[in-house]
Amino acid sequence: MLAVDYFSKDLIHTLLKIAPKFVFNLCEEINGKCELEMCVAGLLELLGIPYTGSDPFALGLALNKFHVKQILRSAGVPTARGFVCYPGQKAAVPRGMRFPMMVKPSRQDASLGINSNSVCFTVEQLQKQILYIHKAYEQEALVEEFLDGREFNVSVIGDKNPEVLAISEINFAGLPEDEPKIVSYRAKWDEESPMYQFTIPICPADLPKRLETRIKNIAIRSSQCIGCRDYARVDMRADSRGSIYVLEVNPNPDISPKAGFARAARSAGYSYSDIILRISETAMERGAQVAAAVYAF
Ligand SMILES: Nc1ncnc2c1ncn2[C@@H]1O[C@H](COP(=O)(O)OP(=O)(O)O)[C@@H](O)[C@H]1O
Ligand SMILES: [Mg+2]
Repeated sequence: MLAVDYFSKDLIHTLLKIAPKFVFNLCEEINGKCELEMCVAGLLELLGIPYTGSDPFALGLALNKFHVKQILRSAGVPTARGFVCYPGQKAAVPRGMRFPMMVKPSRQDASLGINSNSVCFTVEQLQKQILYIHKAYEQEALVEEFLDGREFNVSVIGDKNPEVLAISEINFAGLPEDEPKIVSYRAKWDEESPMYQFTIPICPADLPKRLETRIKNIAIRSSQCIGCRDYARVDMRADSRGSIYVLEVNPNPDISPKAGFARAARSAGYSYSDIILRISETAMERGAQVAAAVYAF
């Protein structure tokens, strides 16, 4: 295992010296910046070392939730109505968009910037929350219609023939009445908080067959649109009428044994080593194809 916190020329030398057959790339940030994760995949690409997971383009693209929404929409994949508001601008709510609205940073993950005030019911609340995102995260705010229904995390494995693992649902029952039913920063990370204790993943989710099929189709189409490879997780929510919308596509989700991806794999009947082996084999096959193409000349 090679832990890489900061980039240095030594990293290149070390990789060339080890000359691995392939790298199981678990890098989620480098130099303290998640937006640089794509550069690590890019480095492996330049060095001609096969690696697991998505390529630099998909990793970079997925960091921008607004761009992802635009691509998904143009491909006919439903996402909530929304707009972005850049620092220095005031929110100009497009006609037809309805309250409540959800405000989040357009280029963050791990629920950073998502708190009890993220769901806004008035223009005043909206302006205030947008300003908070501008100041705290120095980036544009993404405003979406609030989807008031069930929430699903959908894990996809594979490259050319992707397969959806068991669908997971967040159970919000038990959250205090005045708390919005969302997976906020505290819900993900503050184990002592009621938000953490009452946002419980249920896997597999109890779903009628038709809805399950629809969710699985949307997951595959979304991950293919963004160019995800080997593994990905697509977050979705339903509106109050039960229609499904994609919130975001994660080409580099946590695949550690205790995380949601591994849980979804277990519920689908795969052991942890099954999925790690499958991901590794796919990357090695890709490597062999690259080598075959190079040596054919
Ligand atoms: N439009 C929306 N409607 C309802 N809830 C939302 C909406 N967008 C985000 N959320 C809530 O916020 C959480 C985090 O948002 P998400 O877009 O998945 O970003 P992150 O990258 O931080 O996980 C979601 O899990 C969901 O609970
Ligand atoms: Mg998410």
